[in-house]
Amino acid sequence: MTTVHLAARSQTLPVDVPTGVLVGGDWSPASGGGTFEVHDPATGDVLIEVADGTPDDGLAALAAADDALPAWRATAPRERAEVLRTVFDRVIARTDEFAAVITAEGGKPLAEAAAEVAYGAEYVRWYSEQAVRVGGVVRTAPSGANHQMVLRRGVGPALLITPWNFPLAMATRKIAPALAAGCTVVVKPAGLTPLTTSLFAEVVREVLAERGLPTGVVNVVPTSSSSALVEPLLADPRLRKLSFTGSTEVGRVLLRGAAEGVLRTSMELGGNAPFLVFDDADVAAAVEGAVAAKMRNAGQTCVAANRFLVHEAVAEEFSAGLAAAFEKLVVGPGSRPGTTVGPLIEARAVDRVEEVVAQAVDGGARVAVGGGRPDRTALPGHFYAPTVLTGVDPAARAVREEIFGPVAPVVTFASEDEGLALANSTEFGLVAYAYTRDVGRVMRVAEGIESGMLGVNRGMVSDASAPFGGVKQSGLGREGGEAGIEEYLESVYVAL
Ligand code: SIN
Repeated sequence: MTTVHLAARSQTLPVDVPTGVLVGGDWSPASGGGTFEVHDPATGDVLIEVADGTPDDGLAALAAADDALPAWRATAPRERAEVLRTVFDRVIARTDEFAAVITAEGGKPLAEAAAEVAYGAEYVRWYSEQAVRVGGVVRTAPSGANHQMVLRRGVGPALLITPWNFPLAMATRKIAPALAAGCTVVVKPAGLTPLTTSLFAEVVREVLAERGLPTGVVNVVPTSSSSALVEPLLADPRLRKLSFTGSTEVGRVLLRGAAEGVLRTSMELGGNAPFLVFDDADVAAAVEGAVAAKMRNAGQTCVAANRFLVHEAVAEEFSAGLAAAFEKLVVGPGSRPGTTVGPLIEARAVDRVEEVVAQAVDGGARVAVGGGRPDRTALPGHFYAPTVLTGVDPAARAVREEIFGPVAPVVTFASEDEGLALANSTEFGLVAYAYTRDVGRVMRVAEGIESGMLGVNRGMVSDASAPFGGVKQSGLGREGGEAGIEEYLESVYVAL
């Protein structure tokens, strides 16, 4: 049994979740006493109320992170590794509970939620292994006159702002490398999905407390007013690092705020992933990959294929195959057995998808399948049917903007150069996908594509051991892999 204050469950949430603010190892109500509602996107119903963290709570959390820093930095890397490894084991052992909470607040089907638990926990295991491999340098200076030593240490307290689409994995992808590097953290989870992150933080708190380590290492402040909470934190000299996953628009605002304190920043921002299908592709495999790349979390991922750029020789076969595959998907509440596509996160997300589809159709696109909301009596939540649009104008919003919904616009091209030029004709550059059997073309695309990641003949690139991140306006820095911990480390060069 945990000793979490404000642990709560509701009829639709069959798991105890902390609903308070976690500061210095204690869960408590928000300092202003306020709460905000968390909703089930499959019904629109209120799931539970959560403490509405205030700017004072944010600053108290930063003070706790700052207080815990010297002891956590001094904690042996092996001990930090073992904390993370124990957390990994406990999260995996509680997969069903975590999955139920992810589905309840985020809407994704339970099987996908369980996959997120495995994926998210893997960051914790990976960084438990990296914690003891940080290294450093000792060498003779080139002049031979002295020696050079380069020590690596955690940058200091970090503010981690996480999105709603992967409430566990995006939190672990930041918290685990930060802790492995010796940083302490203040986490601001997305207001739409604070529960999973708080449940994870409670597991970390428990493990730290059991080992007699400072529990202020991880602090969590849910809030309904992000900018009010974040602005004073960015202005506070105790904060040394900001990591954010979310839209490019919000990322720009945060970067401006971070400039004041010259903070280290990691930004995982918007995408507009091209999914290229060349004329020599295995079209059946491309259809299968397209479903994976598009439909994970109902299209609500930064790495979701957004534009299907298909060579005209295979466009008809690909579009028909994709429409047939989308028709087989089962839309419904994530908790209902057999559901393969859950709801969108909120009502305005459905409104936006509707607008984008209508604008494409007005511009001449044809709806091959879907194209609207399913029957609202049967599915009263925030649902949209899996949709394939063909003959889409490359200038349509569906092609230029990140859709964040289950809609696949197909645009044709006539040559490799044209396909690549279309793929690069965006300010974003997070991920791209390419289907081709030609190894030479794979290399040309890999060298010419303007994105931080490329999936070749596969619709999924995410892996805790790989550097996830974008170029252009898709962000700064990398998460995951060897690179992810570097974002939380600084060097001290000692000449001796
Ligand atoms: C995201 O949507 O930001 C992350 C998706 C992933 O890690 O696969």
